[in-house]
Amino acid sequence: MYDIKSFKIKKEPLILGIESSCDETAAAVIFGRKLLSSEIISSATEQAKYGGVVPEIASRAHTEAVDEVVSAALKSAGVQPNELDAVAVTYGAGLLGALLVGLSFAKAFAYSLNIPLIAVNHIRGHLAAAYLSDENLKPPFITLLASGGHTAILHTKTFTQFKVLAATCDDAAGEAFDKVARVLGLPYPGGVNVERLALEGKPSIKLPSALVRASKTKFSYSGLKTAVINAMHNAAQRGETIDKGDVACSFQHSAIDPLVKRTVECALEKGVKTVTAGGGVVANGYLRESLKRACDAAGLKLVLPEKKYCTDNAAMIAAEGLTQYLDGKFSPLSLNATAHIPLA
Ligand code: KG4
Ligand code: ZN
Repeated sequence: MYDIKSFKIKKEPLILGIESSCDETAAAVIFGRKLLSSEIISSATEQAKYGGVVPEIASRAHTEAVDEVVSAALKSAGVQPNELDAVAVTYGAGLLGALLVGLSFAKAFAYSLNIPLIAVNHIRGHLAAAYLSDENLKPPFITLLASGGHTAILHTKTFTQFKVLAATCDDAAGEAFDKVARVLGLPYPGGVNVERLALEGKPSIKLPSALVRASKTKFSYSGLKTAVINAMHNAAQRGETIDKGDVACSFQHSAIDPLVKRTVECALEKGVKTVTAGGGVVANGYLRESLKRACDAAGLKLVLPEKKYCTDNAAMIAAEGLTQYLDGKFSPLSLNATAHIPLA
């Protein structure tokens, strides 16, 4: 019988991580905090034909890829399934049909090997990606979370507890990058294409900052996105040509500069010496460089996940799985997928 109370906790477990919340089927193996392998099979090229993620296509792609990606992760880690100590899997937030593929696969793995199943919140996974960059990293830290669904600055007090210091009151930063990409006629996935186009432009167009005026705790990306649409529209109505590189670059500055500034201010206000970051937007080169410069100037230590661990991957799921494993937080086989999980 599968009994979650019977499992013993090891100090340095071998954990398999599985992620399938959106269009990436991913698996990774960690030994303690050391990453042994990380594999991804993406359906992004297929999704690009439709300009975004089609949930049913994502679910079917996960079904086809999950066995292959897990086998590849075990093989490149040099680990046999029976050596694993736990399986950590994303149970939410995300596309339900997509989540259920990885979750069901992980349950079968945990059951057949009689090892703990660990339910990982995808966003906690994004936050844990930084742990892979520094094996000795320990809270407290100030964390900038900038993803497709969330934008917030967090005071991470312990591995399991954080307080939200500032957050968006409408769209997330990644969502704004994706919408602006569409307005600029750039293909899916949007964020990285806006970044590429921004390299060809200057921040010459006046756009509102993403920090709500007179607020230190609220960001708004909906107004910024509308301002970009209006700038394009007004230029078209006047028969003027607008440099799309300048639009992308100006948007990037307005979207990112306030996040960087407030993150550093929060660290100084709270007297916290370490800054971390996570989420797909943290793969943005301009954000990474600006945050590094600002942290250096303020005498703060910055720990960033590698770019490939900012966007969806299973290494971050295994890393978050480890913190829960060490706390003995295991899930029964009745674990279900959840489309939405509140940030805090
Ligand atoms: O963190 P993530 O997987 O989203 C959630 O889990 O919610 O990240 C996806 C988001 C997308 O909105 C994408 O446009 C954005 O991250 N993104 C970027 C870059 N790469 C991905 N945004 C700006 N610059 C990038 N290089
Ligand atoms: Zn994600």
